[in-house]
Amino acid sequence: MIQPTIITIDGTAGSGKGTLAMRIATDLNWHLLDSGALYRLVAYAAIQQGIDYSDESGIERIAKEMDIAFIPTGGKLVEVLLSDINVSDAIRTEDCGYGASKVATYGLVRKALLQRQRDFHQAPGLVADGRDMGTVVFPNAGLKIYLNASAEIRAKRRQQQLKENGVNVNMPRLIRDIEERDARDMGRKDSPLKPADDAIVIDTDHLGVDEVYRIVLQKAQTLVLS
Ligand code: C5P
Repeated sequence: MIQPTIITIDGTAGSGKGTLAMRIATDLNWHLLDSGALYRLVAYAAIQQGIDYSDESGIERIAKEMDIAFIPTGGKLVEVLLSDINVSDAIRTEDCGYGASKVATYGLVRKALLQRQRDFHQAPGLVADGRDMGTVVFPNAGLKIYLNASAEIRAKRRQQQLKENGVNVNMPRLIRDIEERDARDMGRKDSPLKPADDAIVIDTDHLGVDEVYRIVLQKAQTLVLS
């Protein structure tokens, strides 16, 4: 049965889905699930506890037992707590992103996080951002969006972001890192990154953030009014 109160936004790293999901959730006054944060939390907790990423059962235990909370701040941000400690910034590092994509390859870890993710679906509705939201976690979502962008364009956007923070990066290396992350996300056995059969695929290479936002908002409003 189709669930009209769920919108999924999937896509590659750096495709702009996080910002888009946040804006749509704010507009509709719906809940937001940043599923990448869950995988980042697992990676972060593993580092904290000195558990190697190769230790699958140790990583699974973390995914099952970690005590986490997502606290909306009323603004655009959500505070992420691990055992009552604010780790919102700590989980955003490149290291945690890399660790997240490693632990995300384990089927047992994905299974352990499944119900936690589904629990985010509460009234009045949910916008879920990730890699497998439309394919695995919420296959009955009323609207499924998949954002595509070339590695070069995503690397350019990332370079611009880092430049604004005073960090200079090597473009070929950035492109290589992005391609490696894509390959891991798309090539894994469990829940590989791909558009759901019924997803609307939007190529954002030649579209600005605001244009993508307008396209998706219009579809979201049609869903809410239907
Ligand atoms: O979106 P974000 O960059 O925070 O995600 C970090 C990593 O977590 C991704 O590269 C991906 O490997 C993993 N992930 C996933 N499934 C999701 C969300 C994130 O496998 N639904």
